[in-house]
Amino acid sequence: MGLRIEDVVKTYVLEAIEVRALRGVSLDVDDGEYVAIMGPSGSGKSTLMNLIGCLDVPTSGRCLLDGEDVSSLSEDQLADVRNRKIGFVFQFHHLLPEFTALENVMMPALIQRMPKPEARTRASDILGRVGLAKRLTHKPSQLSGGEQQRVALARAMVLEPALLLADEPTGNLDRHTGEDIHALFVELNRERGSTLLVMTHNPELARLMPRRLRMVDGGQLESVEDA
Ligand SMILES: Nc1ncnc2c1ncn2[C@@H]1O[C@H](COP(=O)(O)OP(=O)(O)OP(=O)(O)O)[C@@H](O)[C@H]1O
Ligand SMILES: [Mg+2]
Repeated sequence: MGLRIEDVVKTYVLEAIEVRALRGVSLDVDDGEYVAIMGPSGSGKSTLMNLIGCLDVPTSGRCLLDGEDVSSLSEDQLADVRNRKIGFVFQFHHLLPEFTALENVMMPALIQRMPKPEARTRASDILGRVGLAKRLTHKPSQLSGGEQQRVALARAMVLEPALLLADEPTGNLDRHTGEDIHALFVELNRERGSTLLVMTHNPELARLMPRRLRMVDGGQLESVEDA
């Protein structure tokens, strides 16, 4: 999926105090690119991800996904775009606590009305690939922080989305596991042609990605060259 972000401003208003989280951000990402977005805490990375992911709308400016301005879509249409085309890995991963790891990963496939046996096969396969073959029936509270994060990654990838948005996906993972996740991302990117946008504080991980951008205090994105 190709992305075009045009001069996007996002202002949050809390008790009459305005926070300008994004102050005119523009970005073009080609279909099939793999991009890291870095930048300090509070610089607006999660805000940008929510806008690109059709979870929120900009105060001004436009977000185009495959050329379509998503701010002109209805709530139902936005939900449809999210379900069919976008995989999310949230910074705080939002697993459903009453369901097992396997059920959590099956969920997006079931929402798409995939037959249950196929959903189960796919979900257990991807959980195996994130190293959790022996944790399928554990509930989130019975998993470590890094394991929960890997379940969230599996859930985001189970439908091989056209766009994967990942917010600090390796924050709780050791270096080796983080590199395994990167390898899975590369596979999704190369074999399925998925576009990947990864928000990360981790320079070692970012260095592995073909394109790196840094967000500076909600302003423009600047490109990061090799150190
Ligand atoms: N719902 C909200 N209401 C008000 N202010 C908000 C809201 N969400 C974010 N902000 C503010 O917007 C700014 C950008 O936040 P954002 O979460 O996008 O940063 P970030 O780059 O993802 O940071 P981190 O690296 O810590 O995750 C911050 O100053 C934050 O306090
Ligand atoms: Mg964030």
